[in-house]
Amino acid sequence: MNQNGYDVVVFGATSFVGRILAEYLLHTFGVGEDLTWAIAGRSEQKLEALRSELGSMAVDLPVIVADASDEAALQSLCDGTRVVISTVGPYALYGEPLVRICAESGTDYCDLTGEVQWLRQMIQKYEDTARNSGARIVNCCGFDSIPSDMGVWFMQEQAQARFGKPLTRVSMRVKAAKGELSGGTVASLLNVVKEASSNPELRRELANPYSVCPPNHGFTARQHTVKKAEYDPDFQAWTAPFVMAAINTRVVHRSNALSGKAYGSDFRYDEAVLVGRGLKGRATGWGMTGFMGGFMLGASIAPTRWLLERFVVPKPGQGPSREAREKGFFDLRFFGETEDGETLRGKVTGDRDPGYGATSKMLGQAGVCLARDVDREQVGGGFWTPATALDGQLLERLQNASGMTFELLEDQA
Ligand SMILES: NC(=O)c1ccc[n+]([C@@H]2O[C@H](COP(=O)([O-])OP(=O)(O)OC[C@H]3O[C@@H](n4cnc5c(N)ncnc54)[C@H](OP(=O)(O)O)[C@@H]3O)[C@@H](O)[C@H]2O)c1
Repeated sequence: MNQNGYDVVVFGATSFVGRILAEYLLHTFGVGEDLTWAIAGRSEQKLEALRSELGSMAVDLPVIVADASDEAALQSLCDGTRVVISTVGPYALYGEPLVRICAESGTDYCDLTGEVQWLRQMIQKYEDTARNSGARIVNCCGFDSIPSDMGVWFMQEQAQARFGKPLTRVSMRVKAAKGELSGGTVASLLNVVKEASSNPELRRELANPYSVCPPNHGFTARQHTVKKAEYDPDFQAWTAPFVMAAINTRVVHRSNALSGKAYGSDFRYDEAVLVGRGLKGRATGWGMTGFMGGFMLGASIAPTRWLLERFVVPKPGQGPSREAREKGFFDLRFFGETEDGETLRGKVTGDRDPGYGATSKMLGQAGVCLARDVDREQVGGGFWTPATALDGQLLERLQNASGMTFELLEDQA
């Protein structure tokens, strides 16, 4: 053990999001100082080019070469590393060998997957192995699903402090967000739609709100899914479907299950985008519903999927410019109610584009939090969610070093 002695290794550092993460870690932690970390990927040439681009601060940044399918190289990457952060995606295509090796070798792991079907498979296959080895596997550490998962955790903490009981229903609404998609994210999304289009069992699994909860979860509450334009009386505005709800809601229910039903056994949770009031809000809601439906339909049919990949969506490795990332932001609103009708409103914001600028900070801080703050006695091996593994310690890091805020809105209107 302890061959490498790294706190954190970023696997997939040459990916679009991995490069932004490497820059963030460099400027936040330096090299070989308080945090020991390295960059890893399949191409030595690309890793060396990234190190040069990162400038003089990065000359001593260690580089590790490993292909996602080379088990010996992955094993040696894990030896003595505390946490591997992976941005090698689509995870359903490349992610399994690393998860298996981390689970077997007791190495902690974080990623950015939003691929529910893959997450479910990994839990089913490797949860026992991770429990036995002590590996803490924390998936979904980006925009999906940290703001939702930590946002609900924050609202529940506040409800316990004020009312001494949990919120039995919570809604998250995207009030405003500015950002673009990268090729890697689109590739992951298209891969889920492609797998689901030819697999009815997978479609059923994707429709199950408790699909990543442990088998004995016992939840029976019917969950509401916003699938079309709907008026929301809690926010007095029209809403439209939110594309990330499919993963975020699953992660939030898993957090509830793993925390011994801390949010209640009948807890209900949904997500949507706020699109405005009156006739304009209604028209925007239906316009967004039509656009999303059209995109999903196009992505599920092979010839139109090919056209989308070829001519419409960004290619792997491509994504928003630095300027676009810096001008980006997100503003999420939460509404919760206890079983007695007491209500709370909250807000979670981020100061960069959700998918890359903000995501890379969340992922980096989740990895460092796992390496540094979370005791193995307190959180043992297994597949965790951000809220159940990292809770208040991550919240502090996100507020202090990641440009995020979590607050209650005293004006509860
Ligand atoms: N949850 C969120 O909020 C969120 C946000 C952003 C991204 N993501 C996810 O993060 C992942 C990365 O996104 P991205 O846009 O950065 O993707 P990307 O630029 O397309 O990068 C994919 C990475 O995978 C690497 N790779 C592919 N095959 C490999 C192999 N056999 N061995 C080793 N490495 C291999 C590529 O290496 P090369 O550089 O050598 O080509 C590249 O670094 C995607 O799954 C995306 O969905 C999630």
